Amino acid sequence: MRRRPLVVANWKMNHTASEARDFAARLRPLLAGMRRAGESTDAQVEIAIAPAFPALESLARALAGAGIALAAQDVHEAVSGAYTGEVSASMLEDLDCRYVLIGHSERRQHGGESDARIAAKLARVADTSLCPILCVGESAAEREAGQLGDVLARQLEAPLSQLSARPARHPAGALVLAYEPIWAIGTGRVATPEIAQAAHAEIRRRLVAGLGAAGESIRILYGGSLKPANAPGLLALPDVDGALVGGASLDPGDFASIVSACRETRLERS
Ligand code: PGA
Repeated sequence: MRRRPLVVANWKMNHTASEARDFAARLRPLLAGMRRAGESTDAQVEIAIAPAFPALESLARALAGAGIALAAQDVHEAVSGAYTGEVSASMLEDLDCRYVLIGHSERRQHGGESDARIAAKLARVADTSLCPILCVGESAAEREAGQLGDVLARQLEAPLSQLSARPARHPAGALVLAYEPIWAIGTGRVATPEIAQAAHAEIRRRLVAGLGAAGESIRILYGGSLKPANAPGLLALPDVDGALVGGASLDPGDFASIVSACRETRLERS
């Protein structure tokens, strides 16, 4: 199954609206230099950027026509209402966001987000044009205790039963998975290709068990200390369909190098 890879920048709580504009101005020529003449978007790799909420609109403007999708870092599960400080799915749709991160481990850890809350967010997003990027992954203690399979089963159960109950949307546009081992996020301790491939294959197995053949078309991104130097080895793995990049996405040159590594692995395969 050929899946178009997706590389997503997760800026977390970095880059103001003006810094986002500068970033876009520096990234555009780097990406344009990679494309064949006449191509307005990258046929090989889909690219998205998830800035903090205040930078969404200025980034959208600065990226107009660049073939880069806009993503949000979180969303609230209610349609609207008295939820001070929160952002709704329709607000994101109105800004032409295509993707939204759901269940990032930093929100699970610092925001106390439970699997039930994450399932409620996914259910809300399923009624919109947004595509959720659901983040899953185990802690160091869970890995050492050999609990990877149990953790993935728990994190995927509700999302997969929701998706199988709503088969109307094409699965590739209805869900993206991001495998982000917590011990690798922001630590410089990247997963080895063996660890990443085994986890991605396990996620793929569960997607196919839950959704049948449709599970083959859902993309699974790797995230956690991905850098230009380690990207080629990880992005070449058969079940790795792109990346969710934190720290290295803050610099346009590093982010473009990771996109380029992804592009090269696809060109080699085709
Ligand atoms: P990192 O973050 O690349 O800085 O490890 C990845 C993420 O949290 O999405």
